[in-house]
Amino acid sequence: MAREFSTVGVVGLGTMGAGIVEVFARNGIDVVAVEISAPALERGRATLKGSTDRAVAKGKLAEADRDALHERVHFAVGLDALHSVDLVIEAVPEHLDLKQRIFAELDRVCRPDTILATNTSSLSVTEISVATSRPNQVIGIHFFNPAPVMKLVEVVRTVVTAPEVVADVEALCARLGKVDVTINDRAGFIANALLFGYLNHAVGMFESHYATREDIDAAMKLGCGLPMGPLALMDLIGLDTAYEILDTMYRRGGRDRRHAPVPLLKQMVTAGLLGRKSGRGFYTYERPGSPVVVPDEATPLATEAALADGARAIAKVGVVGSGTMATGIIEVFAKAGYEVVSVTRGAEKSAKVCEAVKTSLNKGVVRGKLAEADRDAALGRISWSATLDHLADVDLVVEAVVEELSVKKALFASLDEICKPGVVLATTTSSLPVIDVAMATQRPADVVGLHFFNPAPVMPLVEVVRTIRTSPEATATARAVCAALGKTGVVCGDRSGFIVNALLFPYLNDAVKMLEASYSTADDIDHAMKLGCGYPMGPFELLDVVGLDVSLAIQRELYLELREPGFAPAPLLEHLVTAGYLGRKTRRGFRDHSHR
Ligand SMILES: NC(=O)c1ccc[n+]([C@@H]2O[C@H](COP(=O)([O-])OP(=O)(O)OC[C@H]3O[C@@H](n4cnc5c(N)ncnc54)[C@H](O)[C@@H]3O)[C@@H](O)[C@H]2O)c1
Repeated sequence: MAREFSTVGVVGLGTMGAGIVEVFARNGIDVVAVEISAPALERGRATLKGSTDRAVAKGKLAEADRDALHERVHFAVGLDALHSVDLVIEAVPEHLDLKQRIFAELDRVCRPDTILATNTSSLSVTEISVATSRPNQVIGIHFFNPAPVMKLVEVVRTVVTAPEVVADVEALCARLGKVDVTINDRAGFIANALLFGYLNHAVGMFESHYATREDIDAAMKLGCGLPMGPLALMDLIGLDTAYEILDTMYRRGGRDRRHAPVPLLKQMVTAGLLGRKSGRGFYTYERPGSPVVVPDEATPLATEAALADGARAIAKVGVVGSGTMATGIIEVFAKAGYEVVSVTRGAEKSAKVCEAVKTSLNKGVVRGKLAEADRDAALGRISWSATLDHLADVDLVVEAVVEELSVKKALFASLDEICKPGVVLATTTSSLPVIDVAMATQRPADVVGLHFFNPAPVMPLVEVVRTIRTSPEATATARAVCAALGKTGVVCGDRSGFIVNALLFPYLNDAVKMLEASYSTADDIDHAMKLGCGYPMGPFELLDVVGLDVSLAIQRELYLELREPGFAPAPLLEHLVTAGYLGRKTRRGFRDHSHR
């Protein structure tokens, strides 16, 4: 029989604590909510009220239930109020000495059988536990932000946590409607160990002006389907908390440089820019604690005029290539009203591409997304050719041929001979340096990367890559074209992986390393990222879809370019690829897909 928890205590009612109070009170458990001072207590009470009022407004909570919820919460200043609770969860700032002090005090105040839990994200639960005389009753219960919404709870057992305490806490999580994964005490546990390297890397991109905050966030949302971009997430977490988590992970987790907090973070924390809770972080919010972003001096002008500023007029577009990407891109341009010249290596290939475009457009008609007349008009705008000479009068060329530098360079040299002056020449490469392609021409200022995502007609994102030679006009033109296609164009520098792959693949690789170290299972890791961070797929699901060989190749490129030891491909990934386990396409990758 699992132990019954009728009253729990929560210490610290900040970003996490207030949400944790709500989780318990919503599930019929009495809560003693404790803060350090009266003003802090009032802030916590206001946060709880705001959150439950929003739930009522959204129709997710009945008014009577909200009132009953509030009646279950008793607010107090100081730990003495916790003398008779069954369980305490501590959610004070991420400092070991502070937490140890609080646990020593809780040990004195609470009943001998009370379980003491910490919501720490990165500190050692073991080190916190030894500040008490009952380390066997100390455990980590790591909720995710916002606690009332996110389903995951990481239950962290130390080497001394009693098995019955673990079992009781697991049963409690189930009662709260949460999914728990139980793991050992390691810096960052599952989710943060995989998340914070990525978040820190994104801050580094922002700090080095590699891309704007809006573009970094849009890239990860639209390119990977994440619920929010990394910088918006940092603001939600709180930059002071994020700094402490990174700092601890760096020191505890083998001094991986990717966890050394980017200097900008410290500066922002010192300047009081803590994210949502202070009203300003990477973005500016309506007021402290508000989720509503308001424009500030860094907000780009999103008007059509601003997008078109400096852009050249584009009416006719050449697309070179006959693969999946070229086919999708032809369709996208033709549907958006551009005249398209498709160039392949022969009539047979052209016929195949033409057929594929027709099939895809027809699907749109069947699904009611495209009128028959619009399909016919789109097809009518495409001309099919097997010679580059037909690109003499286009305004933009999009190259989507095989991913080989020598082939692309030769093609760009030919385009340089054939195309009229002022044309923007774009490559869709996802891994080669755009500058290498640009330097095959006499007009590198006109060369950009246009990195579409697969399938191009569906995916809303395009990365616009500018090299150190690309002119502002060419970049503006590329961006305006993306907008005209109904896509979000994000501008970034010419580095391996651009934005999306550079941020995504190291995280996937880290998940493989975590599996390889036997810290957790593929299922639990996938769960943790989906339920704790709102990812549409877990890392192993995604790796199996993308293909392990493709993932390994991208990771190798990133490693070779940046020489970052943490980017070295996971040996397990290499072995699986060598063994021919490439993912869904070979029916086996991290999982066996042969029966599905
Ligand atoms: N922010 C997140 O997204 C997130 C997610 C999961 C876990 N965590 C963890 O939760 C914990 C709290 O983080 P946060 O982001 O909520 O911090 P926060 O700064 O938003 O809130 C901390 C609260 O603790 C209070 N406090 C400080 N000293 C206290 C004391 N002696 N007694 C009582 N209350 C005290 C502060 O007044 C403040 O309200 C940290 O360990 C953090 O790592 C944070």
